[in-house]
Amino acid sequence: MIQLLLFAFFAGCIYVCYRLTFPKQWREVKVFPGPPTVPLLGTMIPSSQLDVTKKVEEWSRAYGSPFLAKLGPSYLLIVSKAEQIEPILKGTTNLAKGGSYRFVERWLGKGLLTSTNERWRHQRKLLTPTFHYKILHDFLHIMNEQSAVLVDRLRERVKSQAAELQPIDLCPYVTLCALDIICETSMGKRINAQSEPSSPYVQGILEFTEVATYRATHPWTWSDYIFENFSAMGRRFRQSLNTMHQFTNDVIKDREAAREANGAASKDDEPATEEIRKKRALMDFLLEMKQKGDFSSQEVREQVDTFMFEGHDTTASGIEWSCYLFGRNPDIQLRLQEEIDSILGPDRSDFPTADQLNEMKYLECCIKESQRMYPPVPYIERTIIDEPVDIGDGRIIPVGTTVGISIQMVQRDANHFPEPDKFDPDRFIAENCVGRHPFAFCPFSAGPRNCIGQKFAMLEEKTILCHLLRNFTFESVDDEALMEDTMSYMFVLRPTKGVWVKLTLR
Ligand code: HEM
Repeated sequence: MIQLLLFAFFAGCIYVCYRLTFPKQWREVKVFPGPPTVPLLGTMIPSSQLDVTKKVEEWSRAYGSPFLAKLGPSYLLIVSKAEQIEPILKGTTNLAKGGSYRFVERWLGKGLLTSTNERWRHQRKLLTPTFHYKILHDFLHIMNEQSAVLVDRLRERVKSQAAELQPIDLCPYVTLCALDIICETSMGKRINAQSEPSSPYVQGILEFTEVATYRATHPWTWSDYIFENFSAMGRRFRQSLNTMHQFTNDVIKDREAAREANGAASKDDEPATEEIRKKRALMDFLLEMKQKGDFSSQEVREQVDTFMFEGHDTTASGIEWSCYLFGRNPDIQLRLQEEIDSILGPDRSDFPTADQLNEMKYLECCIKESQRMYPPVPYIERTIIDEPVDIGDGRIIPVGTTVGISIQMVQRDANHFPEPDKFDPDRFIAENCVGRHPFAFCPFSAGPRNCIGQKFAMLEEKTILCHLLRNFTFESVDDEALMEDTMSYMFVLRPTKGVWVKLTLR
């Protein structure tokens, strides 16, 4: 109760200050249609993430794009048309994120995802070469090894069950595999999440997105001080944060000491041997930058934490939705298995090479179609701070507005994807993409602030799915209606009830 009263007080103050400071902007943005609001509480207080998903869809249908939604004292203009997001995302100004990112900043600080202006430009320029495909290919052995662990764990599970096939929820298996991959590639450290899922670091990471998402949609948790000191969830959250920061700091120290010991700290050229090159983690590139004075220790930690956050739940979500769709579409699954077998041959012990994965064009179409229907990052925000944005049809978004971009609604637009609810990977065969609006498919966002890790993500998704399809056949037990009804929307699109499949060994 006391939290609610405090929230009402602060919200009232913010509301009054805002209206007095930006009277013109308030008038300009109020011309957009939207659902009715309750003073201070806004449009709605969602009781769960599922409500948010459904509400955004419902209102987009009722009020069109864009529509105005209020959450507590702040408001959001939600945009869901490719033609309208283009002018927002493609410019080199208006690169600031929205208010929801504040909640992930407690972990990530001002890393690449959350930084703005010159700080962001500087970081992006420095980090872009690190995601070059030649460097990413050196991570393929890690992706392969961890995928093999995943296959072994699932195989054991399948063998241990009774004669009749029992459905298995793939999500915890895939999430831990993705966590192992991102940890080893970004920090050079094996955390063995797949075999030791209860370590405090792994638990902290697994809980983080859930808590951050909860806070973004529950205004009475918005004050860090009140949340972290006066609620059990907040205290636990603070403890997890300390563990996570401590873990990354320790790895940085160990890695720096090891670099110094083997003399790597004094060289900035190509590593001496292939073996040393293959052992490099993203952190090593950051430590080289630190040595040149481009990053401080804290900035190295912020970037590594950003890769950890952006780089595991997202790929796990992509793989989980893909498996679900393959398990609903046996013909497509069979075609995929034929493609993989024809490229890799009958020997199931070899790991796929980068060239072989590159040859798997149908797998790529399937992953893209899955990302279209279930984008792992379904929603992003921008704050218009530099100049108003003209989104066409005489509509101008004024400075000061926070814009929510529903990637999910953009990608289910029947004008660009006929029968948008149908899983049809052929939409991504090269000739079928000709003439499509460049922003109609944007799972990695678009424009200068698009995902820096998209090649990494595609390589990882392809590798894990290739291992899974080579060894198992899936049959999904849940239908579309249930899955669509229970997906949760915010930082990452999750199947909240899991992806339940019957697995058969091939
Ligand atoms: C399927 C997997 C992935 C999807 C769908 C995805 C999607 C996205 C999206 C939509 C954004 C824009 C966010 C925004 O504007 O607020 C983004 C940004 C970013 N992503 Fe990813 N991502 C994925 C995997 C990864 C991986 C594996 C990494 C790193 C290893 C990564 C690192 C980043 C970073 C650092 C940013 C911030 C870029 C910037 O602002 O300059 N992502 N991602």
